[in-house]
Amino acid sequence: MAAYTARAHTNIALLKYWGKADAQLILPTTTSISLTLNEFYTETTVEFDEQLPHDQIILNGRVLKAHERQKIERFLDLVRQLAGIKTYARMVSINHVPTAAGLASSASAFAALAGAASAAAHMSLDPSDLSRLARQGSGSASRSIFGGFVQWDRGTDSNNSVAHSLKDPVDWPIQLITVIVSDQPKAVDSRSGMQNAFSNSPYYQAWVQHTNNSVPAMQAAIANYDLDTLGRLAEQNALEMHAQNMVANPPFNYLTDTSWGLIKMVQTLREQGLSVYATMDAGPNVKIISRPQDTEAIMTQLQQTYPDLKTQIATPGPGIQIWEE
Ligand code: DP6
Repeated sequence: MAAYTARAHTNIALLKYWGKADAQLILPTTTSISLTLNEFYTETTVEFDEQLPHDQIILNGRVLKAHERQKIERFLDLVRQLAGIKTYARMVSINHVPTAAGLASSASAFAALAGAASAAAHMSLDPSDLSRLARQGSGSASRSIFGGFVQWDRGTDSNNSVAHSLKDPVDWPIQLITVIVSDQPKAVDSRSGMQNAFSNSPYYQAWVQHTNNSVPAMQAAIANYDLDTLGRLAEQNALEMHAQNMVANPPFNYLTDTSWGLIKMVQTLREQGLSVYATMDAGPNVKIISRPQDTEAIMTQLQQTYPDLKTQIATPGPGIQIWEE
């Protein structure tokens, strides 16, 4: 069978997914809205080969051992089940998400794997079906099938829990400046972190309700080129997500003193009149939502306050691309 390659880009949520209504199918408690990024992506090649005794998985040039392959093998089993085949696959994947960027790569990784594996298994899935499939590898991957601004409807079943494009290409100047506080793997991965918040935070239902209620306002901000409303909603939603973690029992926290210092810096720049907002995911890095015209002012402040921190600027990026080798 022919080999297929897919390239999928990472995305950052402006309204977050943080908890599962159904952990098996990966149905989220919230509808989430994200921006797909141009600079960071995963490229994955898959070929089903009758000769293979098991799935062979090579990540960034390293052959994975049996115990490291399980999550990917389970996903390939799902593809085999859908395609009605039993053949094992050879998968070669390269992450163009610099490890130093500390950005989550599971979104681009499972989106690229869904695209390459389904094509290699001779299924021709449309973007919605690809999104449903990618979702079952990692929830945020459902959004990385599409470019630009993307909405993942939480849905009530595997069919209607699917992402769709809100605006692509993005025809307004918006960027995310990622400030790298740490490039170390996080102590609590997002899967267990969100499970903990879901089960043990007394305000979890309020966060779900507030997030879902914020969807129309976020959609309007995107349609109206309104960076201030978009940023305000995104920063508040991120802080509310982190608040869930801090009041969970037992509590946990992804944000370090440096993360909090950066959030304060962003808020101070805003008081001085700049349109800058912060968002944070399951790690300490802070992404500054801003306009390219303000890059210099932001960088000057960063260099004065945190001269040792590295930054990466990310701009809106495209949806998945798939081709035959
Ligand atoms: C904080 O998609 O990595 O980035 O579905 O368990 O694989 P699983 O979780 P994942 O969680 C992403 C969490 C987040 C917010 C978001 O991207 O919406």
